[in-house]
Amino acid sequence: MDPVRFGLIGYGAWGSHHARAISETSNAELVCIAARSEAAQSLAREAHSTTEIVSDYQELLSRDDLDVVDIVVPTHRHQEIACAALESGRHVLLEKPMAATVDGCQRILAASERSGRLLAIGFELRMSRLWGRVRELIKQGAIGQPRYCMIELWRRPYRPGAGGWRFDRDRVGNWILEEPIHFFDLARWYLTESGEPNRVTARANSIDADRPLLSDNFTAMLDFPDGAYAVISQTLAAFEHHQTAKVTGTEGALWASWSGAMDRTFEPDFFLRHHDGESVRQVDCGGPAGEVFELVQQIQQVCDSVRNGTPLHANGHDGLHAVQMCLSAERSAEMGESQTLSLA
Ligand SMILES: NC(=O)c1ccc[n+]([C@@H]2O[C@H](COP(=O)([O-])OP(=O)(O)OC[C@H]3O[C@@H](n4cnc5c(N)ncnc54)[C@H](OP(=O)(O)O)[C@@H]3O)[C@@H](O)[C@H]2O)c1
Repeated sequence: MDPVRFGLIGYGAWGSHHARAISETSNAELVCIAARSEAAQSLAREAHSTTEIVSDYQELLSRDDLDVVDIVVPTHRHQEIACAALESGRHVLLEKPMAATVDGCQRILAASERSGRLLAIGFELRMSRLWGRVRELIKQGAIGQPRYCMIELWRRPYRPGAGGWRFDRDRVGNWILEEPIHFFDLARWYLTESGEPNRVTARANSIDADRPLLSDNFTAMLDFPDGAYAVISQTLAAFEHHQTAKVTGTEGALWASWSGAMDRTFEPDFFLRHHDGESVRQVDCGGPAGEVFELVQQIQQVCDSVRNGTPLHANGHDGLHAVQMCLSAERSAEMGESQTLSLA
């Protein structure tokens, strides 16, 4: 079968990992990279000598040999570039957050519906041997009916991004849209059978008085219609990278944990433990977990969807709902009041 041909827009810290993941995927081909700065272009050229490198994403979109456009640029460019890629007739893999506003997400969704092309959102944790295995076990009934979910990140340092976009509210939106958005998505996915979350209550603060609205510490509670709830908590004022998910149900409990000196380590420590109501067992995840591995699985999954029509791991509606949860949580933290969610 012919390989799925990818064009990649954005070759920064995470885009370079996307390029590696596409190159490592057997039925994918990295045809072209659009990298804006000279520095990014020369890094791309060095690592991918047979791939064409261009500076303008419109030049990439004007090619006639691409099946999928993979977009890994700062958040404030997502709407414009994703809509242009979909309108050019390509399937799109778009990094999270889908956009910084609900309106932006809806415009991207409308472009994907008009074009009839696939729109995948970069929630690669769903593909994880660790975080994804938690969902599989819940689905198999390993803990009965889930009643409580806690997802927590303990981290430092935090990358500023090219030109410092991650420290600029106009370009990043807020920090809930960076890391906690993954956890909102996971909590909603883990508790699928509880219905769509209908309320969020959040608290946040910053360790730096010069950027009070970019919160290092953030905690939110999500309520679900059947009485289950999820707690999402992050601190960027800690050290290293340690992430935990704990889910308890009417008949058991799951505890997943991942640790690395940094988020992108190829040698993480992790475990998944399951209590079935009587005893605890260590679950074999069948291979390493971590975002550098999950990215390869995500590219593979996009290829399968393009070639065989298998469902996407996360689609535009998942992207929109995750943004809605984050923005409502931000509002809750700012106003000191719970916010109603309606994720139709
Ligand atoms: N799913 C995940 O786990 C995950 C992890 C990390 C990041 N992300 C997301 O990925 C995106 C990028 O993050 P990052 O950490 O890679 O940021 P980054 O290191 O700042 O890289 C962004 C790159 O995009 C380039 N760029 C900006 N506009 C462009 C354009 N019009 N055409 C081509 N390239 C353009 C920048 O070019 P210059 O160098 O010229 O400025 C920069 O190289 C963000 O949306 C972020 O939220 C997701």
